[in-house]
Amino acid sequence: MKHGLLIRNSYWPSASMDEMEALLVSAAARMSIALHVCGNGDIPCVPGTAPKLPAPADFILFWDKDVRLCQYLEMNGYPVYNSSRAIALCDDKTLTHLHLHDLPVPQTILCPLTFPGRGYPDLGFLDQAAQLLSYPMVIKEGCGSFGQQVYLASNREETAEILTRFAGKSLLLQQYIQESHGQDKRLYMAGGQCVAAMRRINETDFRANIASGGKALPYTPTKEEIALAVNACSQLGLTFAGVDILDSANGPMLCEVNSNAHFTALYHLTKVDIAAHILDAVRGAQ
Ligand SMILES: Nc1ncnc2c1ncn2[C@@H]1O[C@H](COP(=O)(O)OP(=O)(O)O)[C@@H](O)[C@H]1O
Ligand SMILES: [Mg+2]
Repeated sequence: MKHGLLIRNSYWPSASMDEMEALLVSAAARMSIALHVCGNGDIPCVPGTAPKLPAPADFILFWDKDVRLCQYLEMNGYPVYNSSRAIALCDDKTLTHLHLHDLPVPQTILCPLTFPGRGYPDLGFLDQAAQLLSYPMVIKEGCGSFGQQVYLASNREETAEILTRFAGKSLLLQQYIQESHGQDKRLYMAGGQCVAAMRRINETDFRANIASGGKALPYTPTKEEIALAVNACSQLGLTFAGVDILDSANGPMLCEVNSNAHFTALYHLTKVDIAAHILDAVRGAQ
C-alpha cells in the first residue's frame, strides 16, 4: 500500500476544504493509498533538519500556499504536488502573468512596488497604463481568491484610491474584458487533461466567482479553451489546477490559474470524481 500525506492550512477553517479532504481520502482508499491528513502547523519547519512528518509519505499532496514549508519538504527529497515553484507562481497573479506572457491574456501591467506608508506620491506609471488599458480598468492584488481582491475602477481617481489603499502589496492593472462581464469558464485540469468544467455567471457583479454570487452551470469546453489551459499548466509546472478563462472578442483569454483550486462546487455540479483524477495525476507524475 502506498502512503500519501495531504497537507492543508492549520489556521483557516473551511467547510469546502473539509469536504475536499473527505473526497480525497475516500478516493485514495479506493486506489489503495493510505492518505493521512495534517496541517502545515503540524510540521516544524527547521532548516537543516529532516522533516518530522506525522505519517510516512511516498508523496505529499500540498493543499496550501505555505511555499516555504513546501520547499523545505522538496529539499528533503519528498515528491510534492503541486511543486513549491508552481504554487508560488500561481499564488501571486503578477508572477503568473510574468510567466504566461506568450499565451492570450488580457493586457496586463504590473505595478511598481512601493512601501505601505509611502504609497505612490508619483502616479506617472498609471497615466501611461491608462493610455494602454483605458477605463474601466481591472486592478488585482497579486495574492487573492474568491474574487475578493479584484476591483473594477471606472476612472483615474478610483484607481488611485485603490492603489493607495493597497500600496506595498504586489498589484497589477489589467484590460477589462467587457464581453466577459460577470462570466467565466473554470476548467479543472489534472495530468494535462481537462477532467471537468463549468461556466459561472453572475448577474450582479463583474466577478463570476461563486463566492461573489456567481451561479455554476455545466459546460463542455472548446478545443481552444482546453489547449489554453493545458499550455498554462505545462508552463507553470502544475500537476493539477483550476484554470479560469474569459471570453473575449479575440477568443478565449486566460484569466488566472489556481494551484489549490477548490473543486466541491464543480464536483456537485458534474458528479465527476475530481479527487480520483487528482490522485491519478499525482501517481502519473511520480
Ligand atoms: N480582466 C478582466 N476582465 C473582466 N473580468 C475579469 C477580469 N479579470 C477577472 N475578471 C473577473 O473577476 C473574477 C475574479 O478574478 P480572478 O483573477 O479569477 O481572481 P480570483 O483569484 O479572486 O478568482 C474572474 O472570474 C472574472 O469573472
Ligand atoms: Mg478566479
